[in-house]
Amino acid sequence: MGSLQPHRVAEVLFSEEQIQVRVRELGAAISGDFSDESEPLLLVGVLKGASLFLSDLVREIARPLEFDFVALSSYGDATETSGEVRVLKDLDIAVTGKHVIIVEDILDTGLTLRFSYLIENLIARHAKSVRVCVLLNKPSRRRVPVPVDYCGFEIEDRFVVGYGMDYAEQYRHLRYIGVIEFIK
Ligand code: IMP
Ligand code: MG
Repeated sequence: MGSLQPHRVAEVLFSEEQIQVRVRELGAAISGDFSDESEPLLLVGVLKGASLFLSDLVREIARPLEFDFVALSSYGDATETSGEVRVLKDLDIAVTGKHVIIVEDILDTGLTLRFSYLIENLIARHAKSVRVCVLLNKPSRRRVPVPVDYCGFEIEDRFVVGYGMDYAEQYRHLRYIGVIEFIK
């Protein structure tokens, strides 16, 4: 692995306020879809990218719920996954009989979610239903189909950082979502 090219955030794509408004809407949609509070709801965030999104999203859902995290590793370079995916950290919470919502930061090629077999795995463990919630979706980059039930924003094919998303582990802490520019 060579040294990384210098980089910086060149543009704000979604401001803190825009993200907040959209996350609130997603939380309201989920609250509406799962209004029967007798049915357990479990949100599963994919580490590390979805951690900030999940922590804001759960506070916008007005019903009882549990949340947990999984960690998936995909081999690849800094900006693209290879499709070879391993589960590094499994759920700590049982899923039987629960409605499960997988929470991802961004859906790009779809390879990570597809080849982690996370959806199949949750179904095999008798989840009552499995849905997918992504903050960002890059449909033009999709290589394998992944069902998306809740989506924050659809974006063009650009590499974004912030609000949990990284380039080489940098920028995750930004309150906004920005586009990276590589400096020659
Ligand atoms: P996929 O397997 O190609 O769908 O990519 C899934 C993962 O790659 C996401 O969960 C992110 O962690 C990462 N990723 C994809 N696109 C971007 C991006 O534009 N910025 C930061 N991370 C990204
Ligand atoms: Mg991710």
